[in-house]
Amino acid sequence: MSKVQIKPVRPVFPSPAGLVTSVDAEGRPNIITLGEIFNISIREPVIVGIAIAKPRYSHALISASKEFVVNLPTADMVATVDHCGMVSGRNVDKFAAYGLTALPAAEVAAPLIAECPVNIECRVLSVQEIGDHDLFAGEVVAVHVDEDGVTPDGTVSTSSVDPLCFMNWEYWTTGQPLGRIGFTRRE
Ligand SMILES: Cc1cc2nc3c(=O)[nH]c(=O)nc-3n(C[C@H](O)[C@H](O)[C@H](O)COP(=O)(O)O)c2cc1C
Repeated sequence: MSKVQIKPVRPVFPSPAGLVTSVDAEGRPNIITLGEIFNISIREPVIVGIAIAKPRYSHALISASKEFVVNLPTADMVATVDHCGMVSGRNVDKFAAYGLTALPAAEVAAPLIAECPVNIECRVLSVQEIGDHDLFAGEVVAVHVDEDGVTPDGTVSTSSVDPLCFMNWEYWTTGQPLGRIGFTRRE
């Protein structure tokens, strides 16, 4: 099989399609859809990265408040996720427009989205200008999961939270599990 070089645009996939909440100085909440959401430091401490372009209203809100919440939607929330990525909170109250429920967070002013089964509260540690987006590194200060989305050993049950993926400008579901990490060591 020969290889063909292509123009590199958003070359790494899949990523989650998530909804990130923030608040303005009066506490009014906003939501932005992000594909660029990733783990940076995974245990000690737990740090999540998000990449946001400067013109986004959420960029201004998170830069000022230094807090955000990553809300991971289920695959059936795909239309809401798309809507939240098509309009700006400068013009639209996205909670009201898309019938979403804001719940108070434990540690930050930005709200949780009740309809999303996983909600990750973050405090901004650093902001770096990198290329056409800015990288916000957020220390995770609390994580909430729907009761029926937690396994008996306290981890997230992937199948019940049914995460939404983003790749090649399309939304995807995650498909079937293929094996737990390290499964080849037992072969
Ligand atoms: C699937 C999807 C993924 C997106 N990913 C990002 C992203 O990672 N970073 C970003 O700055 N904008 C991203 N956007 C665009 C913003 O969601 C969009 O510009 C939004 O309207 C900004 O909202 P705001 O102005 O209320 O902050 C994405 C949009 C969609 C639909």
